Amino acid sequence: MVTPNTIVVTGGAGFIGSNFLNLMVPRHPEILFVNFDALTYAGNLASLESIKDLPNYRFEHGDIRDREAIKRVWETHKPDCVVHFAAESHVDRSISGPTDFIETNVVGTLNLLEAFRAGTGGATSTRFHHISTDEVFGALGDEGLFTEETRYDPSSPYSASKASSDHIVRAYHRTYGLPVTITNCSNNYGPRHFPEKLVPLMILNTMEGKPLPVYGSGLNVRDWLYVADHCEAIWTVLTQGVPGETYNVGGNAEKTNLDVVHSICRMVGEETGKSYDDLAGLITYVKDRPGHDFRYAIDATKIRTELGWEPTETFESGLRKTVRWYIENTNWIDQIRSGEYRSWIEKNYSQR
Ligand code: NAD
Ligand code: DAU
Repeated sequence: MVTPNTIVVTGGAGFIGSNFLNLMVPRHPEILFVNFDALTYAGNLASLESIKDLPNYRFEHGDIRDREAIKRVWETHKPDCVVHFAAESHVDRSISGPTDFIETNVVGTLNLLEAFRAGTGGATSTRFHHISTDEVFGALGDEGLFTEETRYDPSSPYSASKASSDHIVRAYHRTYGLPVTITNCSNNYGPRHFPEKLVPLMILNTMEGKPLPVYGSGLNVRDWLYVADHCEAIWTVLTQGVPGETYNVGGNAEKTNLDVVHSICRMVGEETGKSYDDLAGLITYVKDRPGHDFRYAIDATKIRTELGWEPTETFESGLRKTVRWYIENTNWIDQIRSGEYRSWIEKNYSQR
């Protein structure tokens, strides 16, 4: 059992990282949480408003590609644990420009592992937890589930960069004996999700009466997990996982993209009084994503039986919370919709 003193949380201003900090910082006043984030387009301090003044929280602005910045954070805080979220995370962006993905996801992870291995600044090295994705396994057909033994077969520059980083993290355990753990999780949804991804994009577009761009046939399948359930799984593995082990995390909620979009139309309709038929009429089929993986589905037996973790939200209950959060947090939406966001939406969808 790991009892952390000081955790460096990389990428804590992003979607999952900020949800993790919003849950764990108030719950664990005995632990110092250091949020180390470069604040790229995906990082938003607005997501951390309610914890920013708590005494066990610090923000360190810095880039994991920069070894000097890492050294500074290690020397200042001497972390015993790392929870590594920081990454370029959007598949479509990796297709338009892969370089940042290799630099942050691969080289950035290597830089953190090196600081952890060296015990830079006199830090102890109790646990390095690496957050990864089910996309490293590639695509499934109609049948089957990803287990921890499934062969890696990534399709996009994003998933290839995450696969590379997983291999490096594992190599640091096998070669240097570092106490690492890895989780490979399915698609998350929930509050504070940047609206370039399917769920928040569709919620905002239905709220605003804009087209709902569905790639290809809309029949691709993803396994959806409410973000707070993912955060609890990460905490469980951080504190109870076996060093060197990998755990798959999933929501047992396979849906086609069209199912997801129809559920959003129904729920936004119920919550705002708009007509479901009008909202579903906004669905627009656009050009498919190159190399679009057909189906992802997770077998989460290992984390359930060995560590006792299970998701608590169904897709219906989690999506309801998510839709309500976006309706109630229009300030957050205004804050993150920078010029950069608008130009990405224009660039991405005008080419499809
Ligand atoms: P996100 O894009 O919302 O956030 C990424 C965060 O990392 C941002 O705060 C950004 O500022 C920061 N960051 C990016 N480059 C950085 C750098 N070079 N140095 C320091 N900080 C940097 O991502 P997310 O959706 O929250 O995903 C977090 C992690 O979880 C990623 O590793 C991703 O691969 C993994 N993951 C995501 C999902 C999902 O559905 N979102 C599912 C499984 C795994
Ligand atoms: O599976 C885990 C992965 O889930 C994470 O590792 C990634 O970081 C995360 O971004 C997510 O990747 P996806 O590519 O699955 O998520 P995205 O929301 O981009 O797309 C979900 C599905 O919806 C996918 O099949 C593509 C489709 N899609 C997406 C967008 C943005 C559309 O049909 N229209 C859209 O506008």
